[in-house]
Amino acid sequence: MAQHNNGPAIEVSGLVKRFGDTTALDGIDLTVEPGSVLGLLGPNGSGKTTTVRILATLMKADEGTARVCGYDVVRDAYQVRQLIGLTGQYASVDKDLSGHQNLTMIGRLLGMSSKQAKARASELIEEAGLADAATKPAKSYSGGMRRRLDLAASIMGEAAVVFLDEPTTGLDPARRGETWAMIRRLAAQGSTVLLTTQYLEEADHLANDIVVIDAGKVVARGTPDTLKRRMGSQTLDLRLSDPSQLEEATNRIQSIIDAAPVVDARTGQLSAAVTDGEVMPAIVRSLDEAAIGVSELSLRLPSLDDVFLTLTGHRATTADEKADEQNEKEAAA
Ligand SMILES: Nc1ncnc2c1ncn2[C@@H]1O[C@H](COP(=O)(O)OP(=O)(O)O)[C@@H](O)[C@H]1O
Ligand SMILES: [Mg+2]
Repeated sequence: MAQHNNGPAIEVSGLVKRFGDTTALDGIDLTVEPGSVLGLLGPNGSGKTTTVRILATLMKADEGTARVCGYDVVRDAYQVRQLIGLTGQYASVDKDLSGHQNLTMIGRLLGMSSKQAKARASELIEEAGLADAATKPAKSYSGGMRRRLDLAASIMGEAAVVFLDEPTTGLDPARRGETWAMIRRLAAQGSTVLLTTQYLEEADHLANDIVVIDAGKVVARGTPDTLKRRMGSQTLDLRLSDPSQLEEATNRIQSIIDAAPVVDARTGQLSAAVTDGEVMPAIVRSLDEAAIGVSELSLRLPSLDDVFLTLTGHRATTADEKADEQNEKEAAA
């Protein structure tokens, strides 16, 4: 794997990008160690794609610096382009060649024999779930198929650093699983991966470290475990048959999980962050002892919404809501 310095694979410092009145990036700092996967987690419009485009030399920042394997993305753009694989909307594949031909061509460029290149291409086509379309021109592929071919091309090309911009958004669960397996393979072969996602679950499964951004600012960073511990790894939702027992139930649950549940007295609903699903039997027993009837009980993974609420004290704003706010401001002016 081409690695031209001993420092971080990606190093971003004080990155600012404005589009007219919109500040898309408001001073982003991040570091990605060689061979690791960084999950850049944030809602729609938080600045993920802008960050990736700057790192991939497709756009210039207004302030700050970004380096890939020690190369400055502006001054040394040529070297950076040699090192990166970029999947998403900026495909590197030749649309007139078939998926298999594209991968074989990359293998030949890397100096493999024709036989080696073809064999490896077939293997990756299979993994990408593209066996049925292997000999069809890439231009006939759907968006999801193109993304998986891009990913296969990055693996084939053994790119030192790979940017994956929301690689599974819009994919069905089976395709998502295939894509996750390919991303793990990329990481296992030593590529450094910057993966953007809106899904905490995805970052949790794939990333060594997570940086959470909101409105162009970093709001949290850490390993998946540290972040999940900060917000409770799961959320317990519970509804009582008789809302008048809410106080007793709250006290009992609080003594077990050692944190204050959020209660809605009107509906008799209670929710709490729990770090360990094993507290469930104790909760059920304790409520049962007090003859507290439960009509609904569930454990779920925290959503990005929960994460944002915990980290920032506000809900994640979507791009659409931002546009609404802007329209309201303009209407008021
Ligand atoms: N080319 C552009 N022109 C104007 N505004 C843009 C452009 N690209 C992005 N933005 C704005 O910058 C912000 C960040 O966008 P983006 O990086 O695409 O976020 P994400 O990828 O996290 O959804 C958004 O408010 C978006 O509307
Ligand atoms: Mg985006």
